[in-house]
Amino acid sequence: MTKLHIAPSILSADFSRLGLDLQEAEAAGSSWVHIDVMDGQFVPNITIGPLIVEAVKRSCSMFRDVHLMIDRPERYIQDFVQAGADLITVHAEATVHLHRTVHLIKELGAKAGVAVNPGTPLEMLRPVLPDLDLALIMTVNPGFGGQKFIPASLERIRTLRSWIDAENPNCHLEVDGGVNLQTIESVVKAGANILVAGSAVFNPSGIGRNFKALTEAACACV
Ligand code: DX5
Ligand code: ZN
Repeated sequence: MTKLHIAPSILSADFSRLGLDLQEAEAAGSSWVHIDVMDGQFVPNITIGPLIVEAVKRSCSMFRDVHLMIDRPERYIQDFVQAGADLITVHAEATVHLHRTVHLIKELGAKAGVAVNPGTPLEMLRPVLPDLDLALIMTVNPGFGGQKFIPASLERIRTLRSWIDAENPNCHLEVDGGVNLQTIESVVKAGANILVAGSAVFNPSGIGRNFKALTEAACACV
């Protein structure tokens, strides 16, 4: 299996000191950062745009994992690549021409990911799986940080792991939503290797301390 990474989601960071929060995560050993883009259409919340991706790029050297929770994401791929996205994940539910969108991301020079919501059949991403750098299983309904992990996701992670091993072993399997010290072991055991964590990293217990505890818990079970 590909290497394990905790990807701190800046959705739960303190935006008045974003650079400092990022540097704290990086100093604790983080090499990925997860950036949640929401448009108030595809999901009921509005968050950030390319400007923040650019600010993240200037603040740290972590790999920028940009999660687009926006309708018809193909309209904005170029802007996010120009802002410094290393990997762009689009939702299978949000674009009519998924294959074309995946290839657009790659042609523009970024790595490509596809996400599926908890209520979406995994089969939606199977036709493009050989082309992907990352497949993302949402383990909450997207829109907000701090929600509860949906247990039925574990079976989906196991199924996707078997497809990835058979069809595209270099593809990352990312999980997003409700990953914390209580749930991390089960998602790693089910086969995930990129573990997004927002509220479990950016909270008053301390970013560095939280990041290290999650890393330890994840690595203990592989
Ligand atoms: C949810 C976002 C997540 C979110 C996760 O729609 O895609 O990345 O930040 O937050 P936690 O880890 O708090 O569930
Ligand atoms: Zn996300």
